[in-house]
Amino acid sequence: MSIQNIPRRRFDALIIGAGGGGLRAALQLAEADANVAVVSKVFPTRSHTVAAQGGMNAALANVLPDNWHWHMFDTVKGSDYLGDQDAIEYMCRAAPKVVYEMEHFGVPFSRLDNGKIYQRPFGGQSQNFGGEQAARTCAAADRTGHAILHSLYQQNIRAKTNFFDEYFAVDLLKDDEGNVLGAFVFNIHTGEELIIEAKTTLLATGGAGQLYRTTTNALINTGDGMAMALRAGLPLQDMEFFQFHPTGIAGRGMLITEGARGEGGYLVNAKGERLMERYAPKAKDLASRDVVSRAIYTEVKEGRGCGPEKDHVMLKLDHLGVDVIQKRLPGIRQTCITFLGIDPAEHPIPIYPTAHYTMGGIPTDRYGRVVTPVKDTPEEVVNGLYAAGECACVSVHGANRLGGNSILDILVFGRAAANHIIDYLKDVRYHKPMDENSVTQAYERLHRWDRTGEGESVEQLRKELKRAMEDNCGVFRTQEILDNGIKAVQQLQERMKDARIRDHSALFNTARVEALELENLMDVAMATVYSAGARHESRGAHSRIDFPDRDDMQWMKHTLFFKEGNKLDFKPVRTKPLSVASFPPKARVY
Ligand code: FUM
Repeated sequence: MSIQNIPRRRFDALIIGAGGGGLRAALQLAEADANVAVVSKVFPTRSHTVAAQGGMNAALANVLPDNWHWHMFDTVKGSDYLGDQDAIEYMCRAAPKVVYEMEHFGVPFSRLDNGKIYQRPFGGQSQNFGGEQAARTCAAADRTGHAILHSLYQQNIRAKTNFFDEYFAVDLLKDDEGNVLGAFVFNIHTGEELIIEAKTTLLATGGAGQLYRTTTNALINTGDGMAMALRAGLPLQDMEFFQFHPTGIAGRGMLITEGARGEGGYLVNAKGERLMERYAPKAKDLASRDVVSRAIYTEVKEGRGCGPEKDHVMLKLDHLGVDVIQKRLPGIRQTCITFLGIDPAEHPIPIYPTAHYTMGGIPTDRYGRVVTPVKDTPEEVVNGLYAAGECACVSVHGANRLGGNSILDILVFGRAAANHIIDYLKDVRYHKPMDENSVTQAYERLHRWDRTGEGESVEQLRKELKRAMEDNCGVFRTQEILDNGIKAVQQLQERMKDARIRDHSALFNTARVEALELENLMDVAMATVYSAGARHESRGAHSRIDFPDRDDMQWMKHTLFFKEGNKLDFKPVRTKPLSVASFPPKARVY
């Protein structure tokens, strides 16, 4: 279809991504009578929130004493003091209300005998600012994300949200002042293109776990929103901080929830030792994720790994008894039976750290507004553009996210962004005229992938990218390794320019999507490895063998990566909370 004949639709709000963040925002907007469109490249209930297992944190104090301030302390400490304390306070205070809202939307949380919502201990949680273990993670067995996503989808159907299912967003559209005015999308099934004009656009496209070979992430997690932001001239913040979940199934990467350790499971090495006693004498298996992942990696490197290749450790659950496992962890039991042929009620599970979560992302404030440095201004709001969830960096996770804070983040900030959009729409009542050049650019980006036939295959380049990231931007890093990673990604980006997709067939649009996704991944890979090469300290998930200590004097700041010329900039951490005293940086021990 020629570019002039592409149909246009107009909405108050466009949301790209139908995971928990996108759907929570959509619901808030639809209930406020905004005309809202949700574009999703998969059917909404297949979005990656569906895979979240262990639960969401909120200081409900249903099982052990708790309050939001302790939750805030744990989150700041977990972030290795890089999280913005105003946003963290906001999230932790909002958490109980957001959980009760989800309960009212129909989420079938597990229950205690007294009927209250069940809460389990998770890593990095404490009572009374670093005291005894807390139990703060509200769970629906080990299928919490599934329960939340389905409830939100049903609520959105009731609220009459407009869904564009299986549409791929190619790029953001702008006016000639750079304000974002919607997106260029296409229907993956038919190939039909569509220009969505929107007064406001919310990116809720999730993370980029597909950067790595072994990952808990679905195939869809290709950093699409982050890459769209980069191409729109916006920076990505703190991309060097990528979380490796300690307990992926060894060699395969599927998630075994931290809830398994919350229920009393523990890690053992080849000698049968409880390895975490060595690395985190107090919290042991419920230390923060970065700590546990490094511990497993070190055990294997020092020859105490299990199996013929000594390349993993074991997670023991059999002592919990079949009833607890079936009641609290039915999903991971089924996963182990299906994919490993073992029942964790009888045998330990072979595990190894696996790529899990992108701490960095599109910089936002706590209203979900995208903010960027402009000329001499440290931060300026990008009018009409919002981001929430894993594609955003608000930043509540800083250098390391605590388990159970991810679903909380998407729901709190999806909701907050929608509330801000509702206010914004009161002032912005008309659609602004689009810069047609931005439409042309998006159209051309899509049609570059009409080229078929000979040339390097997208699949091959994708495999090589994942390998390059795994080898050069993993749990432990050095300058030499990271520089190799930068070179490898640069070369792959060059080769991508001449790549071809498979020939015209029933799969043609799927092949085009894979090519567009790979371009996105390459941009996000560069942001990740380049930012990691620049940060000369160890903090949270960013462990530099050549700079083993945290350096608060030099590095208590956020990294900003711009695509144009691989430029880096920095901005201060917001250490001042909203209403309480700051938590100053301290040595971080568990
Ligand atoms: O281990 C888990 O269930 C994952 C939770 C999370 O990433 O928050």
